[in-house]
Amino acid sequence: MEQIERALRKAREDRQWSRPTRLFKDSAWTHPDQNGAVPSKTTKVRLDPASLKNHRVIAGQIHDPLIDLYRSLRAQVLQTLAQIGKTSLGITSATHGEGKTLTAVNLALAIAMDVKHTVLLVDADLRMPSVARYLGINPALGLSDYLTGEAEIPDCLLRADKERLSILPARSHVGNSAELLTSPRMMQLAAELKARYPDRIVIYDLPPLLSIGDTIGFLPSVDATLLVVKDGATRTAELTRAVELLSDHKLIGTVLNATQ
Ligand SMILES: Nc1ncnc2c1ncn2[C@@H]1O[C@H](COP(=O)(O)OP(=O)(O)OP(=O)(O)O)[C@@H](O)[C@H]1O
Ligand SMILES: [Mg+2]
Repeated sequence: MEQIERALRKAREDRQWSRPTRLFKDSAWTHPDQNGAVPSKTTKVRLDPASLKNHRVIAGQIHDPLIDLYRSLRAQVLQTLAQIGKTSLGITSATHGEGKTLTAVNLALAIAMDVKHTVLLVDADLRMPSVARYLGINPALGLSDYLTGEAEIPDCLLRADKERLSILPARSHVGNSAELLTSPRMMQLAAELKARYPDRIVIYDLPPLLSIGDTIGFLPSVDATLLVVKDGATRTAELTRAVELLSDHKLIGTVLNATQ
């Protein structure tokens, strides 16, 4: 608890001086492509259908009957974000392994299938990144490379072969994930990603809330949060605490996920 409170305090202090800055030095990056989705020079990646299937990523399919569940989640999320006039969403859970990444990836793909929206999926779980694995891609650079100053954002961004979906992956585990996720550089990035294409939905796959201080410290940078709850596994006390922690961070709903 002390760890979470420390992270909250640090986030408040950092926010007092963090301001959006230009992350895109090359003017070629400052204009969206004709779909308004991503900078035109961004590396294009093919999402491997076998990997998607193996990891239960179904929302890009047209015929899977389960896709209706993600369509319904998409409708509710988009409606709520539109009502509050916001575009960025953090997906978290009380503890590990509750289905955050699967939900984030499927929701992002479901949104990308809707012609009215573009979406950016950010792997903000620097402790245990897995978005790239779920998508069957092997990025050369990722969010932690940007946060440690070793790469620029356009070098890390990927454009999926599914239209309207771009990805900011995290390449590999980093030891100081809490410090990186709550750093002023990350907060500036979140502000820039939101401001850059005002109509684009930005989805963050986050670490769990309890036991890890970095998640709560980052939450002020997202407009809204979604809590994934593992059916039959999340304890009542954990859920209550998670909801309490999210009450200041526009919790817009919960996803009851079965992981069997
Ligand atoms: N609805 C589901 N049905 C079946 N399996 C699922 C479901 N949701 C998640 N899983 C499986 O449970 C495991 C954990 O899911 P996932 O990686 O999405 O959780 P997570 O909350 O992101 O975990 P972590 O805290 O480690 O980041 C994965 O093997 C995933 O395929
Ligand atoms: Mg995960």
